[in-house]
Order: sequence, then C-alpha cells, then structure tokens
Amino acid sequence: MSDIRFSRISKTFGNGVEAVLDFSLVIPSPTLAVLVGPSGCGKTTVLRLLAGLEDPTSGEIWLGDTRIDALEPRKRDIAMVFQSYALFPHMTVGENLSFGLSLRKTPKQDINTRVEEIAKKLDIAGLLQRKPGELSGGQRQRVALGRAIIREPKVYLFDEPLSSLDAKLRMSMRYMIKKLYNEVRTTTIYVTHDQVEAMTIGELLIVMQGGKIHQVGTPEECYHRPGDTFVASFLGSPPMNLLEAAFDESDGWLSMPGGERYEPKQAYAALLRRHGRRSVIVGIRPEDIKPAQGDEHGGLCMKGAVVLTEPLGYEKLVHISIGGAEVIAKSHSGFAVEAGGAMRISVDDSNVHFFSAETGRAIPEQAGA
Ligand SMILES: Nc1ncnc2c1ncn2[C@@H]1O[C@H](COP(=O)(O)OP(=O)(O)OP(=O)(O)O)[C@@H](O)[C@H]1O
Ligand SMILES: [Mg+2]
Repeated sequence: MSDIRFSRISKTFGNGVEAVLDFSLVIPSPTLAVLVGPSGCGKTTVLRLLAGLEDPTSGEIWLGDTRIDALEPRKRDIAMVFQSYALFPHMTVGENLSFGLSLRKTPKQDINTRVEEIAKKLDIAGLLQRKPGELSGGQRQRVALGRAIIREPKVYLFDEPLSSLDAKLRMSMRYMIKKLYNEVRTTTIYVTHDQVEAMTIGELLIVMQGGKIHQVGTPEECYHRPGDTFVASFLGSPPMNLLEAAFDESDGWLSMPGGERYEPKQAYAALLRRHGRRSVIVGIRPEDIKPAQGDEHGGLCMKGAVVLTEPLGYEKLVHISIGGAEVIAKSHSGFAVEAGGAMRISVDDSNVHFFSAETGRAIPEQAGA
C-alpha cells in the first residue's frame, strides 16, 4: 500500500519565510484527506513538496516503502490539479483528456478505453468532440479533473480546484470528487481554506496554521473535540464562543463572565484541578446554547442582554452580551427573542469545552491533536 509519510518536514524559502515547520503526518492508503487552514498557512507548499515541485529544507517524505523527497517529480507517480487549470483551447475535450497518455506512448486502443471510462465517470461523455471554449465553467472544471486522473497515479493532489466556481457548481463538484474517490479509492489530498468544503469532503482533516499542524482527525472529531482554540474557532460558522473564566480550586466552581458561577461535572472539575491554573477558557458552540427554562439541573447558565438578532431562514443568530463578553447563539427561527431584551441561556454539561488560557490546548488534551 502507498501510505504517505511526512517525517519532520520543514521548508524555509530563500527570503527567510518558514512556510512549513516540523510537519509530521501519516496518511494511510487510501484516504480522502483535506488540508485546511487560513491563507498563507503553508497548504500549497505541502502539496508542492509532495509533488516534488519544492525541495524540503529538512525532513523526509515517503510513499509506501520509497523515500521520495529527492526524486524527480515525474518519478513520484503523483498527479496534481492546480487552482488555475489550463485546458488546451485548440484541442477537443477528448484530445485534452488523452494528451498526457499520448505523451507517454500509451497504445491508442488503451487510450480510447480510458478516455471513455473517465468521461463516463465525470459525466462529460457527450462533450468529447467540443472545444473548451464551448463548455460551461463546471464542465471545463470536470475536463481538467479528468485530465489529471486519466493516468492512474498513486496519489491525487487537488489545490483549491473549485475556487473559481460559483456556490452551486462548487457543491456539485464536491459531490463529484467524493463520488470519484469512492470509485477509484486512490489517496487524494484536497487543499482548501474553506472550512465547510473541508468538513463536507474530507474523511481525514489536517488543520494547519502558520506552517504547523494543529489537529488531525475526522471532521466529527475536529468539530466536536477540537484540540485547541484555533481549531475550535476555525471550524464552524459562527465559530465556537470562547469565554474567559476563573476556576476556584477550593470548591471546584467556575466564575463566568457576568459574575455567575457554574459547577462543572465532577470529572471536569478533577481535570481542571489537575490543570492547576485559575484562568481557563470555556468554549461553547452557538448551536449548543438553549434558552434557559428555569428548571435546568446542572449545566451552565448565564444571563445577558440581547444585542442583535440575525435571521437566516430556518435558524436565527442571537448576539448576547454577557458581562462584557459577546456570545453568539444559534436558535430555531421561531424562538422569540428581541434585541434590547434580557435573556437567560443554558448549555448542557456535555457540550462545554475547556481550554488552557496559556497555551490554548484542550483540557484534557485530545488524542490525535
Ligand atoms: N516561492 C516562495 N518564495 C517565498 N515565499 C513563499 C513562496 N511560496 C510561498 N511562500 C510563502 O510561504 C507561506 C505559505 O504559502 P502557501 O502558498 O503554502 O500558503 P497557502 O496555505 O497555500 O495559502 P493560500 O490559501 O492563500 O493559497 C506564505 O507566507 C507565502 O507567502
Ligand atoms: Mg495555496
């Protein structure tokens, strides 16, 4: 199997920019992995290092049993699709698809079979005689994908391949890429800065910032058990609310913004005691906030003033000011709250996250983070 292994890879460019720092990661074969993080965090550089378009400053890259970081790009058996895809305008779709195989002197009959196969998979079989100028943006994008995957390499790399498409086309292409992966089961690394795209496409997310990995896990793990405050606020829209609280070791209670006190479950109190710091960050997802009914048993309750509401159709965002901190709640749109009114909110114990105020790391530390 062709597992991909990055071992302590760093890349410093000539201008001194440290684009990738001590990057270690194993991607088992096959996996649909998504590299996600804000602009400039080093995603493209990681792909280029893997494809052989950049040399690492230090570290090793392995594909299966072969160390590949010093191999020429064409010997690595990796296909890459860039953000800007250029089709040959004077060639038909069929010729664009077959071009790479012809260069490799693949027998004509094999080329035809493969072109038909790929065109069928990407739903462009009816377009083979057309030129790129006669296609829609989405059709052109599918031809570009087809051109990359027509070979059967060990790994596919996609660098923001959908960024030039409109929202609807992106959705259908996302579906196409997932479907394609399910059919071919060839390890694919997909790069995006869009957290929604990352969550919907990926089997495995690699969340990066500043050239470093913050967390590796399934979309569910990264969303529900973020390893640090960066991942907590990067994934999710609106992001997780992060509130400063003070832990009182003597009774195991937390003082929340606005002055209310909260007694976390015994198990959490024990973890916070072990953490041993007074200042902690409490994280709450907007959708986990409920209006308090007054009969809550345990859980976190806080009172604040409704500053603003934003209807989103099915849901509504409610901005609440609590002791100087602003909290965003996501509630069912039928829920009656008005800007200017007071509101008491509650959060179930199991939905409260804790992070170190010093390092931002989750308490307890998440496995895989
Ligand atoms: N050839 C280069 N020479 C010098 N610095 C570079 C070079 N390529 C990238 N960088 C820098 O390295 C860092 C990482 O760049 P990279 O292109 O990998 O980011 P990215 O995560 O792909 O961002 P985006 O989402 O904007 O595409 C950035 O600070 C960038 O300016
Ligand atoms: Mg990039």
